[in-house]
Amino acid sequence: MNGGTNVLPGAIVTGSSRGIGAAIARRLASEGYGVSINYVNDAAGAASLAEEITGSGGRAIVVRADVSNYDEVAHLVEETAKAFGGIRIVVNNAGFSQHRRIGEMTIDDWNRAIAINLSGAFHTVKAALPHLEREEWGRIVNICSLRAMTGSDHGAHYAAAKSGLIGLTKSLARELAPRITVNAISPGYTRTDMTARTLAEKGEEIYASIPAGRAAEPEEIAALAAFLASEEAGYITGETINANGGIYMR
Ligand SMILES: NC(=O)c1ccc[n+]([C@@H]2O[C@H](COP(=O)([O-])OP(=O)(O)OC[C@H]3O[C@@H](n4cnc5c(N)ncnc54)[C@H](OP(=O)(O)O)[C@@H]3O)[C@@H](O)[C@H]2O)c1
Repeated sequence: MNGGTNVLPGAIVTGSSRGIGAAIARRLASEGYGVSINYVNDAAGAASLAEEITGSGGRAIVVRADVSNYDEVAHLVEETAKAFGGIRIVVNNAGFSQHRRIGEMTIDDWNRAIAINLSGAFHTVKAALPHLEREEWGRIVNICSLRAMTGSDHGAHYAAAKSGLIGLTKSLARELAPRITVNAISPGYTRTDMTARTLAEKGEEIYASIPAGRAAEPEEIAALAAFLASEEAGYITGETINANGGIYMR
């Protein structure tokens, strides 16, 4: 941690109780941001991360909010602004995927995937925007997916939502320039709960198809998110950066 030398306003990382979100929250806290650890089910994971961050000199609060619910997101935003005196960074990371072929996909499955992966990002940005504008500086980072580019034969709802997130990223980048940049990261296979079963069952076959020969660690995605959220990344906006070990090249 930065030992309190650099005290910056708030950063919201949705879905940060575990996985990629937890790595991003840890990283931003180490740079001096007050971070909101957001979860929907895993209260223990969120509390343990907050304890780890505060225990090493950082600042963190824990806020439960389902990103698919605007009122809960608005509460997350207000709690963050109150705790840290402002908000400069929003990372839309909360995500939901499930294995569903189109024939077996219910209307509820579809709506849930869109509500969490796409509407969730809109909710956070809508609620946080007045705070970013007050700072006259802001960074929005949307965690997208390889599936936005390749499509998916077992999750059309997820791929469609993540493709939509790229459209949202570009639109917000145009609208909010120049003081607020908006970018997306499209991770490939990353070692988290989301991929644990697939990697356990088919890891060797998957790694053979990735030029890097392995899955990413959450910290590698977090390093890229931290860069896009930094002062130095000010000339990058509306971009989607692939971090996929070369499995898909545009
Ligand atoms: N892992 C990969 O290979 C991979 C690849 C491409 C893209 N991604 C994207 O990267 C992001 C993070 O994925 P991950 O692998 O770290 O996932 P994960 O390990 O499954 O963690 C998901 C996180 O999102 C939270 N979450 C889920 N639904 C939510 C909701 N409705 N409201 C608020 N929070 C919610 C979870 O909270 P609880 O702990 O409370 O359930 C958890 O913190 C996602 O957007 C995912 O689509 C991941």
